[in-house]
Amino acid sequence: MNFIGANILSVDQFNLDDVNTLFSVAEKMQPYATREKVTKVLDGAILGNIFLESSTRTRVSFGSAFNLLGGHVRETSDVSSSAFVKGESVRDAARILSGYSDVICIRHPKSGSVNEFADFSRVPVINGGDGSNEHPTQALLDLFTIKKELENKNRDLSKLRIAIVGDLLFGRTVHSLCKLLSFYPNISVVLVSPDRLSMPTDIVEYMRSAGLSVCISNNFNEGIKNVDIIYTTRIQEERFETKEQAALYRGKFILNKDIYSKHCAPETVVMHPLPRDSRPEANEIDFDLDSNPNLAIFRQADNGIAVRMAIFAMVLDVVNQIETSSAKVNWHVSR
Ligand code: NCD
Repeated sequence: MNFIGANILSVDQFNLDDVNTLFSVAEKMQPYATREKVTKVLDGAILGNIFLESSTRTRVSFGSAFNLLGGHVRETSDVSSSAFVKGESVRDAARILSGYSDVICIRHPKSGSVNEFADFSRVPVINGGDGSNEHPTQALLDLFTIKKELENKNRDLSKLRIAIVGDLLFGRTVHSLCKLLSFYPNISVVLVSPDRLSMPTDIVEYMRSAGLSVCISNNFNEGIKNVDIIYTTRIQEERFETKEQAALYRGKFILNKDIYSKHCAPETVVMHPLPRDSRPEANEIDFDLDSNPNLAIFRQADNGIAVRMAIFAMVLDVVNQIETSSAKVNWHVSR
């Protein structure tokens, strides 16, 4: 695809070459993401960061990525103080807010609404998550992380064995990730969820018709055996009709030190899009795993910066200008 001026709405837009190109740009962004260098390549540009659902990582990392490229960020993140509560439509919001920005990231609770927003926007729109549908940039940073974690262990992405665990019905990150994994026909996937929260059949079919081996299970201890990566997720409480319904599924699959050492192959990498639900009744990944070097969740979140910088640089067509407008940092870098 041509990234210049494009909307990023779904992983369906990409082919494997697109993803690899984006990852090579993300690698070039690493020195900026880790504050070895600064660039002003987007000096004067404005990101409209519109988050109509709760978010920490996606919102802040989009904003930070734009700042790290030298651009400015304008946020709309409190629905109750926006004109949406006065009944403003998505299409009018798109017409208005795109007049104030050079690019927009938007998260919306309703599936498909980001596409509608993009139809009426005058600037490129990036989907920061639309309902339970898709979360394309999270899936890109997840695949980027999978690739790096496996490279560090001299393992081959094309033969990945991955267990994807949790709320696979409502989890938008896993919907997008499963489609990206489908670029690699020799991957085997175990989808572990309560029966009621299983992966939508169209996505299972998508993977199977791409050649992947897909096993569906509700048995956590079995599903996490003999895989390279466990990608676990939170029960998406906000998508259930009542909190009581969500509570029925919380705490079913808890990964902790004991379970890990009993059931996982050595060096199994643990990922999660975050936030992990750390309430005792949920606790997908116990704090007792935090000292395990195979817990990749914080590296995964960090990778969001470089990947999102790459997306902005490609969409706004500044990849080739980054080096020329770069400098060393002036301050002490403590990370
Ligand atoms: C995810 C999301 O919002 O879909 N979070 C994120 O963006 N990293 C996952 C979740 O909220 O459980």
